[in-house]
Amino acid sequence: MNRKKVLVTGGAGFIGGNFVKYLVNKYPEYDIYNMDLLTYAGDLTKHKDIESKDNYHFIKADITDRDTIIPLFEKEKFDYVVHFAAESHVDRSIIDPGIFIRTNVMGTQVLLDAAKLTSVYKFVHISTDEVYGELDFDPTTFFTEETPLQPNSPYSASKASSDLLVRAYHETYGLPINITRCSNNYGPYHFPEKLIPLTISRVLNDLKVPVYGDGRNIRDWLHVFDHCAAIDLVMHKGVIGEVYNVGGHNERTNLEVVKTIIKTLGKSENLIEFVQDRLGHDKRYAIDPTKLEKLGWKPKYAFETGIAQTVQWYLDNKEWWEQVISGEYKNYFENQYNI
Ligand code: NAD
Ligand code: DAU
Repeated sequence: MNRKKVLVTGGAGFIGGNFVKYLVNKYPEYDIYNMDLLTYAGDLTKHKDIESKDNYHFIKADITDRDTIIPLFEKEKFDYVVHFAAESHVDRSIIDPGIFIRTNVMGTQVLLDAAKLTSVYKFVHISTDEVYGELDFDPTTFFTEETPLQPNSPYSASKASSDLLVRAYHETYGLPINITRCSNNYGPYHFPEKLIPLTISRVLNDLKVPVYGDGRNIRDWLHVFDHCAAIDLVMHKGVIGEVYNVGGHNERTNLEVVKTIIKTLGKSENLIEFVQDRLGHDKRYAIDPTKLEKLGWKPKYAFETGIAQTVQWYLDNKEWWEQVISGEYKNYFENQYNI
């Protein structure tokens, strides 16, 4: 029997990295190809536990590099493509939108061309709830798959553009696709530029935690392991052409999140520093995951358990996060924050 070949783009990053581990361990009968450019957000030290496994393969490549990507697809004839690779941080997109358009839009188009040319079995595009824009604070309103796309940041506009390209390749060329739109993830290997790992790493060093505006903006947090299980289900059972929202009804204000972490670590709330708000800061995200639940998915992690385990993971893996924030990130942090 032919072994299935799965290409995961961005598998050296946070969610892609967790998904690569998940697939390598769950499906020894599949060959998993992690393709990543290893930007500031990608690192391979997280894959020490799987790198010697027979079904794990790494390819260093840039998804925007057509001259590399097309021959690679022709040679390997992947069955599945699960596409995570992206510039993912909203604040960086506000500083420099260009790289977001290049990677997230043009890179996705190169992959779609390669997938079409080599007739992949399915292309799963990992998108975000941010493409829907923002909700107000009415707790009865949620993003559904029918909510119109109204992205507000250069990041979310680039993701929405890539979603529309994926949709267009399905409608025009019949490319077999799914799109998933997930809420905010947290868990192991989350890069410390994002709120939760930033807070944990700063509180552990008794440094001030920058909270934008009044801290009342709301995000809907999902443990990355629950996200991995959702993508696995969509990859294998998702109806071709469909979009699936992923979220676990874990809405928290940013201030609640920061205070929970401070309390878990037994530190003082005096570490909180309210700083200038993010430009165009979306008020609230909240996902209605009914469609995915009907397909057979249910999240396992309550936020309180997940955040306690995540704090413990950062305590146990100090070496990893100290190493990833020692390079380019230092300059970024100094330019971004004045604390
Ligand atoms: P991340 O920034 O941690 O990882 C991105 C990875 O992509 C890195 O390993 C990086 O090296 C790689 N990459 C960047 N440019 C590349 C290029 N040109 N060619 C090849 N590889 C490249 O991102 P993440 O938080 O893991 O997010 C992964 C995906 O999930 C993104 O598409 C993001 O939009 C989406 N998403 C993220 C969240 C979240 O909460 N983090 C929620 C919903 C959706
Ligand atoms: O909703 C899904 C999205 O979640 C993904 O598509 C993005 O890739 C991912 O980065 C994340 O985007 P957010 O902008 O919501 O995540 P971030 O961790 O940057 O911010 C979470 C909230 O915390 C947001 O309201 C801004 C606020 N914040 C963030 C930082 C970095 C602060 O108050 N202070 C900070 O220093």
